[in-house]
Amino acid sequence: MPFLVRPTREACASCLLDDTPKVPPSGNRHADIAIIGESPGSNEILRGVPFIGASGQLLSQILRTVGARRPDFWITNAACCMNRGIVLKTGFIPEAVVKKQSIQCCRERLLGELNLVRPKAIIALGAFSVEAVTGIHGVTKFHGSVHGVDLGLLATGQPSGQITYVVPAFHPAFLLRNRPQFYPSVIKAFQRALRASRGQLD
Ligand code: URA
Repeated sequence: MPFLVRPTREACASCLLDDTPKVPPSGNRHADIAIIGESPGSNEILRGVPFIGASGQLLSQILRTVGARRPDFWITNAACCMNRGIVLKTGFIPEAVVKKQSIQCCRERLLGELNLVRPKAIIALGAFSVEAVTGIHGVTKFHGSVHGVDLGLLATGQPSGQITYVVPAFHPAFLLRNRPQFYPSVIKAFQRALRASRGQLD
């Protein structure tokens, strides 16, 4: 699937991952719900599709558990390149630093895309994607809560008057490591986002 909004040349030029392969979003351009991951992994880079590796399989299972189908969602990432630690002439830059910076550089592309899709609700997976669309830090504290954002305001500084509900949730990669404790609460977070997309806020 082609990019709905391509990252600008200037944004990529200021990114540590400039000129590395990019994974465009996938799914339903008219979806009521967008799912935002953090950045593609090696399987996604190989096939050019987000969430098709182990995290993606778990995401599909979560969607089946809540009675939803993956093609009904807009599935994207806060950064469209694969994050990893990189070696520069000046030294090693750890993955966490690269990730923070690449998500910052990709934010204009993400917000531009979300403004075209105009989902009613967003499930933000992992702390970095939560921060990209709400400005709040950390996922543990906010997991499963509902935050209203104006995507137009975030993208252009001009209020659109339209509220999109963002539900932060643990990333499937985190679940793969801590599944038994957290799977039920992730299901609840997804169900809450489904309800928020229908205007049911609880
Ligand atoms: N993890 C993500 O955050 N995104 C993907 O596309 C794959 C794994």
